[in-house]
Amino acid sequence: MKILAIESSCDDTGAAIIDDGHIKSNVIASQSVHEQYGGVVPEMASRAHMQNIVPVVAVALNQAQMAIEEIEAIAFTQAPGLIGSLLVGAGFAKAIAQARNLPLIAVHHMQAHVMAHFIDEPKPNFPFLCLTVSGGHTQLVLCKSHLDMTLIGETIDDAAGEAFDKTAKMLGLPYPGGPLVDKLAAEGNPLQYSFPISSLPDYQFTFSGLKTSVLYFLQKGKKENPNFIAENLKDICASVQYTIIESLIRKLKKAAKELGVQHIGIAGGVSANSGLRQAVKNLGEQNGWQVFIPDFQYCTDNAAMIAITAHYKQLAGEYAELGTIPTARATWSHE
Ligand code: KG4
Ligand code: ZN
Repeated sequence: MKILAIESSCDDTGAAIIDDGHIKSNVIASQSVHEQYGGVVPEMASRAHMQNIVPVVAVALNQAQMAIEEIEAIAFTQAPGLIGSLLVGAGFAKAIAQARNLPLIAVHHMQAHVMAHFIDEPKPNFPFLCLTVSGGHTQLVLCKSHLDMTLIGETIDDAAGEAFDKTAKMLGLPYPGGPLVDKLAAEGNPLQYSFPISSLPDYQFTFSGLKTSVLYFLQKGKKENPNFIAENLKDICASVQYTIIESLIRKLKKAAKELGVQHIGIAGGVSANSGLRQAVKNLGEQNGWQVFIPDFQYCTDNAAMIAITAHYKQLAGEYAELGTIPTARATWSHE
């Protein structure tokens, strides 16, 4: 079956086409308008989605060398996300579904991040444990099959991506700061400064304490030396990145050991981080676990992950009603 998938949960407009489980195209239009505000402005995001969605779908069809008449089902991101952004994608998907009398498939964005592992070879076996780290989420998910996923732990406050972005903001770096912190950290000393690593029980994460600790640390440094940040930027980035990665890796290790899982992976925008990728590879080597990291283009928000999830939902006969409404809710559900 040929499925057109739409992703519009935050500030990236994506369209992808999948044919019997094989991705034929994956197009993304990112919105630079938010940079000047230091974060995503929801109203501007929905307006930009409206401008981008038609050309993005046209390019996706073109790259797949397919006509819209060949598409047999339409998938869209139902939740979670910014409600205005979700509505644009859902409205577009439903309009095509209704006009062409095609079935609809509603996809949960966080389930799709995990499913990014099932686009290319090698694919994980089940049970599979995935750490999903993005700008809005930090979750540990245990997968028993493609559609049977259980959220076993998540952050109680900030997401890992937020910890990167907020650190970058305090350092005067542009939004989104995660990739820049990553780049600067590569040349810094991760053990130069020490920040608290969370010790919450079970598989819970917290990053708000780190944010406060970095704030006070920078205030103190600047008081003693007005050029403190500029002179120590690389070491500060490396030390904060090390702390975030340690917090993540400790919980991933604990969960994999306690649940006896041999196949582990990372997903979401922060899985593009070079330090985290290396740390997960090391963890796998030390414990004899097989590690899975999706291709870079499938780590950050994209429609290919919506398409692969839709492929498995279609195989299971899980279609949505035309009346299905998108929801901003962050709670874990893939129904
Ligand atoms: O999954 P994603 O594209 O969107 C959400 O669903 O949130 O993730 C975006 C997040 C942002 O916080 C961004 O700073 C972070 O992923 N990110 C990174 C890197 N690349 C993206 N964080 C650290 N290092 C990176 N290389
Ligand atoms: Zn995402």
